[in-house]
Amino acid sequence: MMSTLKNKIKSLMPRRLNYWYYLYTAKKAVNFDIRRRVYDKVYNNSSAEKVKRDLTLQYHIVEKGLTMPVPRPGFGRLVVLDLCRVVLRYESMKLPFDELEFSQSVTVLKEYAAFHNEIGFKLDKELADSLAKIVYRFDNVHGTNQMEVTEKKYFESVNAPFDAFCMSRYSVRSYTDKEIPLNVLHNCIDLAQKSPSFCNRQPTRVHIVKSPQKKEAILAIQNGNRGFGHLAETLLVLTSVISVTKDIHERNENHLNGGLFGMTLLNALHFNRIAACSLNWAVDNERDEKIRKLLNVPENEVVLLVISCGYPPENFKIASSPRKKAVEITTEHVG
Ligand SMILES: Cc1cc2nc3c(=O)[nH]c(=O)nc-3n(C[C@H](O)[C@H](O)[C@H](O)COP(=O)(O)O)c2cc1C
Repeated sequence: MMSTLKNKIKSLMPRRLNYWYYLYTAKKAVNFDIRRRVYDKVYNNSSAEKVKRDLTLQYHIVEKGLTMPVPRPGFGRLVVLDLCRVVLRYESMKLPFDELEFSQSVTVLKEYAAFHNEIGFKLDKELADSLAKIVYRFDNVHGTNQMEVTEKKYFESVNAPFDAFCMSRYSVRSYTDKEIPLNVLHNCIDLAQKSPSFCNRQPTRVHIVKSPQKKEAILAIQNGNRGFGHLAETLLVLTSVISVTKDIHERNENHLNGGLFGMTLLNALHFNRIAACSLNWAVDNERDEKIRKLLNVPENEVVLLVISCGYPPENFKIASSPRKKAVEITTEHVG
């Protein structure tokens, strides 16, 4: 009753007034969110969450470097040095050694040192000393090593029960140039369409990019595909229609619905024996404008995510990216 009245009043308002009304409610809602985020960035410097975030950001770059199709000797020097420093900072904060972020950071640093040892590449003194210190000091800390698999082994669970299937998918950053037929991609997208969406409004759209020029232009402005993006046979760019949201309070629905869609799509690609990796679209307005122009993305759509994909080679490496346990991320509200 109340909302019918509200809609009636809105429909009687001149368009300009309507615009200001939407802008006012939007600003109020968004400011609430922005304030919390900015406060967290500026005033919340020393929390355990942040040191663990820094560990994860850095160890992830190193695990990716170690599992590239062709790892570059001496890669990521500054990141590795910084990761060594953050590991020591974590220790000085007297945080537990069995936290995943810490054990995984120590593990990738040990793997980095072992990799260069194996190929006989001499690291500079500062880097070698920092690594030696970590290896010696945290001898008893163990995480999950990166993996090397065959194509056959990687896809052996694609027809297995859900739990085995789910645990068998990884982000894969090695691709051959074998063409993925359009009908196979359409089948994957049909499966992704089965993802739930708010009131079944189905806001997600997919751009299938095979044009070499367009792929190159997109990857040049995406921050996170160095060393493997150029091998992708196809890029899938997920966008979402903002016009299907009703008001500003539904502003996160495009990304939320796109996330659900994206996960089903990743599973569908895996099911079809296609290797894939999500590529973030956390970019500034200029880069966003560039991709929009390149793919003719309509004004009322937002770009959500890029997925690089291709059939994988016979042998390839995968980053282990281990997960925290359910008990570590749950809060029970019982009774
Ligand atoms: C939203 C999102 C953005 C991502 N962006 C990148 C990226 O830019 N580059 C990359 O190599 N991996 C990217 N990834 C892949 C993650 O690194 C990967 O999913 C994570 O480490 C977990 O590993 P898994 O997918 O192998 O289970 C992204 C994943 C998500 C969900």
